[in-house]
Amino acid sequence: MIPRHIGIIMDGNGRWAERRGLPRKEGYAAGLAALRKVLGRAAERGVETVTVYAFSTENFARPEEEIRAIVKVADAFDRSYDGDMRVSYMGDIYAFGDEFAEGVESVEARTAGNPGLRLNIAFGYGGRADIVNAAKRAADKGDFTEEDFAANLSSAGLPPLDLVIRSGGEKRLSGFMLYEAAYAELWFTDALWPDFDGDALDEAIASFEGRERKFGA
Ligand code: FPP
Repeated sequence: MIPRHIGIIMDGNGRWAERRGLPRKEGYAAGLAALRKVLGRAAERGVETVTVYAFSTENFARPEEEIRAIVKVADAFDRSYDGDMRVSYMGDIYAFGDEFAEGVESVEARTAGNPGLRLNIAFGYGGRADIVNAAKRAADKGDFTEEDFAANLSSAGLPPLDLVIRSGGEKRLSGFMLYEAAYAELWFTDALWPDFDGDALDEAIASFEGRERKFGA
């Protein structure tokens, strides 16, 4: 079975640029180009939703120039996107200023009725913070079940997370969709994100299809 919802930790953009003697910001532009290819293949394969980790709460500790470079790539994407995907964000988009938030709101509104793949962008996002916020909201409402709780996460309404892909060689979640990833299959590759492509996605999907998912049973 094809995964309905794939999460991607797009790691290795900075290293990709450094290895070419380029400024790290070039790595983010190349990362977006790779993402476009991967999304095209995901749509062809019948994946419903792709959530990408584009800016974690830990990334706020990076040098100002690098933060600006990532925000610029995302903002340019939001303002120019005119394809058939439905684009949404999760995370504290207001931490990046009014202009950025306006671009996000615009792409979300423009694409809300689109029939294609759902691209969900985690930006200013951290899985622990998301769980804590969901717990506060759920507690306000009183007694709750796992389902009630999950409805308070910022992924509410998305299909269950089936597969998490991480490029760049590290083998950890780094705060990405911690609650949702409980029973997701994990796929790690040493490829740096700008080198990841449609064929690499197919390889990850083939591995997913070969696994027996027992959900603890
Ligand atoms: C981690 O790799 C990746 C990021 C901090 C950001 C990735 C963002 C993009 C590719 C642009 C996203 C586009 C949209 C539309 C949201 P790293 O660069 O920290 O890798 P390193 O480990 O090599 O330093």
